[in-house]
Amino acid sequence: MIKVEKLYKSFDGLEVLRGASFSVGKGQVLALIGRSGFGKSVLLKHIAGLMQPDSGNVIVDGHDMASLKGRDLSRLRNRLGFLFQSGALFDSMTIFENVAFPLKEKTKLRENQIREKVIYQLELVGLKGSEEKYPSQISGGMIKRASLARALVEEPEIMLFDEPTTGLDPLTGQSILNLIDSCHKRFGFTGIIVTHEIPKIFEIVDKVAMLHEGEILFEGSPEEIFSSKEPLVRSFLSGSIQLSKGELESGRGGEDIYDVDKRDS
Ligand SMILES: Nc1ncnc2c1ncn2[C@@H]1O[C@H](COP(=O)(O)OP(=O)(O)O)[C@@H](O)[C@H]1O
Ligand SMILES: [Mg+2]
Repeated sequence: MIKVEKLYKSFDGLEVLRGASFSVGKGQVLALIGRSGFGKSVLLKHIAGLMQPDSGNVIVDGHDMASLKGRDLSRLRNRLGFLFQSGALFDSMTIFENVAFPLKEKTKLRENQIREKVIYQLELVGLKGSEEKYPSQISGGMIKRASLARALVEEPEIMLFDEPTTGLDPLTGQSILNLIDSCHKRFGFTGIIVTHEIPKIFEIVDKVAMLHEGEILFEGSPEEIFSSKEPLVRSFLSGSIQLSKGELESGRGGEDIYDVDKRDS
């Protein structure tokens, strides 16, 4: 369904992607892991057709993203949902309007059908009662959940999640992962989740790819990654697990004690 082939991308001489390749089968969910600043967000933007590679290909459902133009590109983009790392809600719209926006833009649903879907989706992410608030009036964690509701409300065939739980406390983070999992079971999207939730994420994905210095150092099942002999994979895994243990032990409670944007990337 999604095939990334030898992707190269530089910014002003800084080589970010250096031949990254991996694939995700239809209906599968892949966790994209790796250290901050190694190009995970850049890679997702290529898959969404928001960035063009210097060389290499992104094939989505048999179509080469780079060669699609105009209506064909927007048709493919319509099948794809993107949860941006920063959330990216429209500040001038209420939470309700934000979540309703893609349905109004892209579907022919009637007003009351839209209302029903939006209310249902907001309830799923735990934002019932906040419909009429504006993004500036809610916390970073709530913005993250509202963004998730907006991405999922269209039930896209392909979902790209960029750090859906970063900046949330462990319990809220877990509930977001559960939500992604239950939505996947309900309408079966093909998905990529960029995340630092190790090992939690391994329970809900079919596949893992680790990006390191612009290349995919590991691609395989969650079981396989634990038997990888590659020292960089092993040290990344043990470091991440250590960190997530610390998080649980310190009993970090209460939502939104971290500002989402400060913890970005
Ligand atoms: N639009 C851009 N212009 C210039 N540099 C960029 C741009 N987007 C990302 N970068 C750089 O690419 C590198 C990888 O960024 P990013 O994909 O956000 O990392 P990650 O998501 O893995 O933390 C960083 O050094 C970042 O500064
Ligand atoms: Mg990122």
